[in-house]
Amino acid sequence: MKKRVAVIGAGPSGTAVLRAFQSAAAKGAEIPEVVCFEKQEDWGGLWNYTWRTGLDEFGEPVHGSMYRYLWSNGPKECLEFADYTFEEHFGRPIASYPPRAVLWDYIKGRVEKAGVRKWVRFRTAVRHLSYDDKTGKFTIEAHDLANDKVTAEEFDHVIVASGHFSVPNVPEFPGFRNFNGRILHSHDFRDAVEFKGKDILIIGRSYSAEDVGSQCYKYGAKSITSSYRSKPMGFKWPANWEEKPLLQRVENKTAFFKDGSTKEVDAIILCTGYLHHFPFIEDKLRLRTANRMWPLGLYRGVVWENNPKLHYIGMQDQFYTFNMFDAQAWYSRDVILGREPLPAKAEMQKHSAAWRAREETLEDAEQMIWFQGDYVKELISLTDYPSFDIETVNKTFMEWEHHKAENIMGFRDNSYRSVMTGTMSPAHHTPWLKAMDDSLESYLKAK
Ligand SMILES: Cc1cc2nc3c(=O)[nH]c(=O)nc-3n(C[C@H](O)[C@H](O)[C@H](O)COP(=O)(O)OP(=O)(O)OC[C@H]3O[C@@H](n4cnc5c(N)ncnc54)[C@H](O)[C@@H]3O)c2cc1C
Ligand SMILES: NC(=O)c1ccc[n+]([C@@H]2O[C@H](COP(=O)([O-])OP(=O)(O)OC[C@H]3O[C@@H](n4cnc5c(N)ncnc54)[C@H](OP(=O)(O)O)[C@@H]3O)[C@@H](O)[C@H]2O)c1
Repeated sequence: MKKRVAVIGAGPSGTAVLRAFQSAAAKGAEIPEVVCFEKQEDWGGLWNYTWRTGLDEFGEPVHGSMYRYLWSNGPKECLEFADYTFEEHFGRPIASYPPRAVLWDYIKGRVEKAGVRKWVRFRTAVRHLSYDDKTGKFTIEAHDLANDKVTAEEFDHVIVASGHFSVPNVPEFPGFRNFNGRILHSHDFRDAVEFKGKDILIIGRSYSAEDVGSQCYKYGAKSITSSYRSKPMGFKWPANWEEKPLLQRVENKTAFFKDGSTKEVDAIILCTGYLHHFPFIEDKLRLRTANRMWPLGLYRGVVWENNPKLHYIGMQDQFYTFNMFDAQAWYSRDVILGREPLPAKAEMQKHSAAWRAREETLEDAEQMIWFQGDYVKELISLTDYPSFDIETVNKTFMEWEHHKAENIMGFRDNSYRSVMTGTMSPAHHTPWLKAMDDSLESYLKAK
């Protein structure tokens, strides 16, 4: 009987796995039966925008954390698939920082071309994943939401690709209960226009803080105050944006900060990150980690060391994204196909410990980028994923960092060269700060 492989999630990580198996089949390999469970009605993961927040129409927690007007926060040249370029998808070069809808279209294009939609069970949420030592098989209980039917099936291998930027980390500050305004997490942020004319307080100093604040600025917030726990973001902010040390408490609409200063605010947006939260995975199989570059327990960042028939994709904190998920997916596939032998558990743990030791020496974003670049390089050297010039991608990331330091509201107006095609991206027709329409049609229209 054919082996059966389950993939949980059809976001960029899960679809990378589908494409990896399909590409092996296209080259003549015998591949297992692949079944992908996806709780949303379409693929693309976070890139599949929803207006919903809280629970969906079936009472499921809404997966989406993306908002209207979200544009890529890094150059598309750094995430490009090595086996399906932007030029192939759009038929011509496009600018470097596409909005969400354009990237969603690109992600879908590759798997539509591969013809793997038939492997996906949409609107099907995995409720429980367990492993039986006696049979050597996994059991997945899944809920077909549209037909309200729960089924249990056995699999030989499972790949968890359910993402980790969906379940919000929500701290509480004294006085929140009586705050006379709106408090929300960035997971539930959908439209910056809601905050036009308002004084906004942002908690956090990472990418959500930077981008949600920038959206609010772009769409007309009166002022932005961002409050950090560790250190300020330190960009050259517009005049109505101020960085303050951590919030201590709120009283009515007054926010009190660690340096003794205060500010009247209308809304508080917690950009405090996300939890790796897998309530559907039994204890002995469940990854437990903070959001970091090298979670422990995963050999080569993928293989669950306690049970190597279980794999996780995309669980690292991310500079590299789509092409790193690809590198992981191709590796996972080759382990499952028996092309990549695995060492004994102690060897796997030793290898992981060495990566973790290096991770602990990293001091800034630039070092993290080189670290993750080396990781991707190691993976792609092991499989037939098309090799690409990682040094140059790292250097593109460095340019991106410099462009942000120069002009945080204008960095998205820059262009970079694709390492996959050698083509320099054209400039976009409108500066980001003035481009209010984030639709695919608007982005792709001629100058
Ligand atoms: C606000 C925001 C903006 C971002 N912007 C960028 C950006 O500009 N550039 C970039 O490269 N990256 C960005 N990212 C990073 C993002 O993590 C990756 O781009 C990518 O979406 C990760 O893919 P994934 O498949 O691992 O996870 P996800 O995209 O989260 O997909 C996981 C999928 O699994 C499904 N799923 C989850 N649980 C279950 C279950 N129990 N049963 C069935 N299905 C399930 C979900 O419905 C979802 O479709 C952003 C992240 C956030 C939160
Ligand atoms: N396309 C886009 O423009 C875009 C927009 C948003 C997000 N993203 C992506 O989304 C992902 C998640 O980013 P993220 O910023 O949501 O999460 P994140 O990178 O994990 O950062 C979490 C932030 O929350 C802060 N924090 C956590 N607990 C806190 C507390 N109790 N009090 C104060 N601060 C606290 C952390 O502070 P410390 O640093 O001090 O620990 C950190 O700044 C990233 O991959 C990012 O690239 C992309």
